[in-house]
Formats: sequence, C-alpha cells, structure tokens
Amino acid sequence: MSKLTLSSTYRMPSGFDIPVLGYGVYQTPANIASDVVQHAVKVGYRHVDSAVGYRNEAATADGLKKSGIPRDQLFFTTKIPPRQMNYENSKWHIENTLKITGLEYVDLYLLHAPYGGKENRIGAWKALVEGVEAGKIRSIGVSNFGVHHLDELEAWIKSTEEKEGKGKGGVLSVNQIELHPWLARKDIVGWCKERGVVVEAYSPLVQATRLDDPLIVPLAKKYGKTPSQVLLRWSLQQGFVPLPKSVTKSRIEENADIYDFELTDEEMRKLDTGVYEPCTWDPTVSHD
Ligand SMILES: NC(=O)c1ccc[n+]([C@@H]2O[C@H](COP(=O)([O-])OP(=O)(O)OC[C@H]3O[C@@H](n4cnc5c(N)ncnc54)[C@H](OP(=O)(O)O)[C@@H]3O)[C@@H](O)[C@H]2O)c1
Repeated sequence: MSKLTLSSTYRMPSGFDIPVLGYGVYQTPANIASDVVQHAVKVGYRHVDSAVGYRNEAATADGLKKSGIPRDQLFFTTKIPPRQMNYENSKWHIENTLKITGLEYVDLYLLHAPYGGKENRIGAWKALVEGVEAGKIRSIGVSNFGVHHLDELEAWIKSTEEKEGKGKGGVLSVNQIELHPWLARKDIVGWCKERGVVVEAYSPLVQATRLDDPLIVPLAKKYGKTPSQVLLRWSLQQGFVPLPKSVTKSRIEENADIYDFELTDEEMRKLDTGVYEPCTWDPTVSHD
C-alpha cells in the first residue's frame, strides 16, 4: 500500500480525484456548520459530506467558501433525499443545491438510498447523469446500495450505452455505505472494488458507541492513539474513504491525525469480526 497522507486522493471512474479523508456533517446544526467546516479545512480536510436531508448544505458551502482555499482544491458532496427518489424531484434538488450554496458545480452528487422502486431509482439516476452533462455535477454515485441495487443500475447503464453510446448511462463513481469492523460488507465492497467504484465509509466511528471495545482499546494503547484513530486507520487500510463526523474542534483534529501509524496484517485480521451489526438504518437490504 502506498503511504497515505492527509492530502491523498483516489481517482474515481469519472476521472476526477476525491480526497481520501472526508468530513461528515450529518446532525451538524446549520447554525454551526460553517464554523466547524472552516475549522476542518484549516486543519487539512478538503472534502465535506453533506446531504439535502442534513439541512446544512448552504452553511457547509459557506464554510468552504470562507476557508480561503481555492474551490478546485475543495470537494463538496450532497445527496438526493431518500424519500424523494425520482426524476423530477432530483432535477429540482440539483438546481436548488446550486442556488442555495452558490456553488458553480457539485463535486459528487449521490442518491441517498435505494428507495422508491426501480423506475424512480433509475429516474433519479438519469437526473444526475443530465446534471453531469450540463456541467452542474462532476461525479455521481449512490449510497446505501446493496449488490442487487448495484446490479440493477449497472444493467441499466449497459443497456443505455448499447442504445445511445458510451457514457450515456452515466458513470458510477462511488457507493457510500456504513462500514466499520462490525460491518465489513465484503459482498458490496467486493462488487465495488472489482469495478474501481470508490467505497466511502459512513459512521466509521460506529457513532462513538464502541470506543471502549476490547478489540480496539489495546491497539489504541499500543500505538499511543485513540480508539477513534484506530477505527479510522482500519478504514483507510481497507481502502475506504472514511467520513468521520464531529462538531468538537479537538476531535476534528484528532480524526485527521491518523497517518503516523499502521495496523499490522495480523491486527487487521483480528478486526475481521465477521459480524453484521449496523449502528443506524440499513437500506442496503431493502427490496421496494
Ligand atoms: N449516506 C448515509 O445514509 C449516511 C448515514 C450516516 C452517516 N453518513 C455520513 O457519514 C458521516 C459520519 O457518520 P455518523 O455521523 O453517523 O457517525 P460517526 O462519524 O461514526 O460518529 C460521530 C459521533 O462520534 C463522535 N466523535 C467524533 N469523533 C470522536 C472522537 N475522536 N472521539 C470520541 N467521539 C467522537 C461525534 O461526537 P461530536 O460530534 O459531539 O464530537 C458523534 O457523536 C455523517 O456525518 C454523514 O456525512 C451518511
């Protein structure tokens, strides 16, 4: 594995680069989002993960603008709301995101969840593809898609390309899913890795519910790091793009200070728990 740093990026299938460490703003109130995002950028994050559903897109973008870092070095992600998954709503949300954030383009627009049935999922995807064609979005992807949802999308992209030409079905760059040692999702991750689709890890700190776990605490002691840093290191060494969230300035810094140690292969094997324990919702298994 080449040595990662806070400024490392991965190349997505779209051809654009994504900063390997992201900063999540789920449950970050809009009235503090600009301030915490500015702090995150100050300490070296370049990638922020928002969503229409988080109600802080505008404040998050404001923080990026006020950071003083040039736009082309910053990366802004947002998502079509899970329960509004169709073509018309998605067209509207893409316009609205640009309007309320004042951004000229979104780096990564995702479908938040595979809800609404096949026709609406594909309709929402088509809206994202048109957003790319219009220069409003650079890269597109999905979130919470299980293998059956990914297969459905891939089949649609292929058949659209056969009818309309290469690229016409859009390019899947990312799948954002919950991932940590108690939810390794080898099936979904394998699907993505085979195709070069970047895997983003949400709730990489298990929402702070397992920071005293006996699997993690001894590793933290061994390396002189915190349990959160060990969990983020696991995520990096899996090849994921982790998206830790914190509104606490010292933790924002702590969560970026993960490049001066490395878990051994044996330690990574011990963290291969084989259990399936989501800490939040799990739309990957939905069949609507
Ligand atoms: N696509 C989806 O469906 C989806 C779902 C969930 C999350 N996400 C994305 O993933 C991001 C992260 O997931 P998440 O917010 O669910 O959970 P998380 O990042 O696993 O955990 C966040 C919690 O951990 C605490 N924390 C952060 N750093 C810490 C540290 N160093 N030491 C101790 N506690 C720490 C935070 O507290 P404070 O904030 O109080 O410091 C917060 O309570 C979200 O913000 C969002 O961008 C996406």
